[in-house]
Amino acid sequence: MATRVVIGTQWGDEGKGKYIDMLAGNSDLVVRFSGGNNAGHTIVADGVKYALHLIPSGILHKGKTCIIGNGVVVDPAVLLKEMDGLREKGISVDNLLISDRAHVIMPYHKELDELQEKFRGSNSIGTTKRGIGPAYSDKTERSGIRMCDLVDAELFSEKVKENLKVKNLMIEKVYGGKGFDADAIIQEYSEYANKLRKHVTDVNAIIFEAIEQDKNILFEGAQATFLDLDFGTYPYVTSSNPVAGGVCTGAGVGPVYIDEVYGVLKAYTSRVGAGPFPTEQDNEIGNTIRELGWEYGTTTGRPRRCGWLDTVMIRYAARVNGLTGLAINHVDTVGKLGKIKLCVGYKKDGVQINYFPASLKELAKCEPIYEEFDGWEIDSSKVRKYEDLPSNAKTYLSRIEELVGVKVKLVGVGKDREQTIVV
Ligand code: GDP
Ligand code: IMO
Ligand code: MG
Repeated sequence: MATRVVIGTQWGDEGKGKYIDMLAGNSDLVVRFSGGNNAGHTIVADGVKYALHLIPSGILHKGKTCIIGNGVVVDPAVLLKEMDGLREKGISVDNLLISDRAHVIMPYHKELDELQEKFRGSNSIGTTKRGIGPAYSDKTERSGIRMCDLVDAELFSEKVKENLKVKNLMIEKVYGGKGFDADAIIQEYSEYANKLRKHVTDVNAIIFEAIEQDKNILFEGAQATFLDLDFGTYPYVTSSNPVAGGVCTGAGVGPVYIDEVYGVLKAYTSRVGAGPFPTEQDNEIGNTIRELGWEYGTTTGRPRRCGWLDTVMIRYAARVNGLTGLAINHVDTVGKLGKIKLCVGYKKDGVQINYFPASLKELAKCEPIYEEFDGWEIDSSKVRKYEDLPSNAKTYLSRIEELVGVKVKLVGVGKDREQTIVV
């Protein structure tokens, strides 16, 4: 048996989807444990591109049980649309299960996300406006509606009415927006409930049974370490815990059952939305990386901010996630840059530090210290063996391993499922 976790080590979009799809091939269960449809995971299989937001990226493999865990927030309309989209491409979603404990994203969550962002003005977080923050706020405030409530018509109706008393006051009186009609929501969501009911179950029991039967389980991370509510660049983060520890609370698995944790990173860094980014290149270099790596959001289409790889971040990610291996993408992309810079530490108040400060004020004082590497002239996108990589690429990867203290296990040299080197 092996239980493996795949998580992001930067600000998301590291290419987790590609590796989850690959590792799903020899997994029995693929489980999402955090976030919602703020995520966008791209998979290119046999030349066909898939963008998944809520459904685990294992769905493209026949017969795998794909699970949406309790730690995920589910927008039922988005989920049903995604299920339909996959069916149209000939992919079965019969093996999709949703935790009865997962929370539901309601129309007022999306409206509040929009209104709160507007209200923050120049301090806006740059959320995906999918209602993620407000849905998780309701969960911790204990007024959330769960999947087990959605599929119980009577309970659902009561909870919507109760919630709207407060939500409409907030929307109308605080933010000057337009409130919601309970009956319209109940009607709309009862149709979703009818379509989803057969997929909703106690997935925790299924996961535990799989552990007892020594099956292979893959936990699919969404977002990333630096978007984590506790360990990220707060408040410019998402509202869940996408770190490896999130598997325990977001899927109901004790820490002793986790065998391997893969940390996915790009050979450079990207970020979408607001917030600090010490190695950002808001210049020609950043623009070149964006175009070479096609850095435009899978979920919102926004151009991603780009910069150099920061090993202070990856070292921190190795610690908080307990990484057992690195999976580095876009080695093809970075090789096309004539010179590559790698951040090996920060200089703060005249002193070199190699930790990531909690205070954004302190972080703003950090100046990256770089080492420079030569790019690689040869197109690495067709390489399938580590030893066949250009020697400059191997030098760059070895230095990353050395600085982070974790071995590189997977190397990405292109978008396609096949463009992966297993080290
Ligand atoms: P995720 O959210 O972590 O799953 O990542 P996204 O799918 O949002 O973004 C990663 C982007 O990089 C997608 O467009 C992928 O197709 C692409 N990608 C992933 N790995 C590689 C790679 O090794 N090389 C190149 N050129 N593109 C890659
Ligand atoms: P994947 O799984 C990149 C960012 C948003 C915003 C912040 C808060 O594809 O890596 P939210 O809507 O969650 O309240 O937004 O988090 N964000 C992501 N950025 N990839 C993601 O997911 C993201 N999910 C959220 O852009 O800055
Ligand atoms: Mg993404």
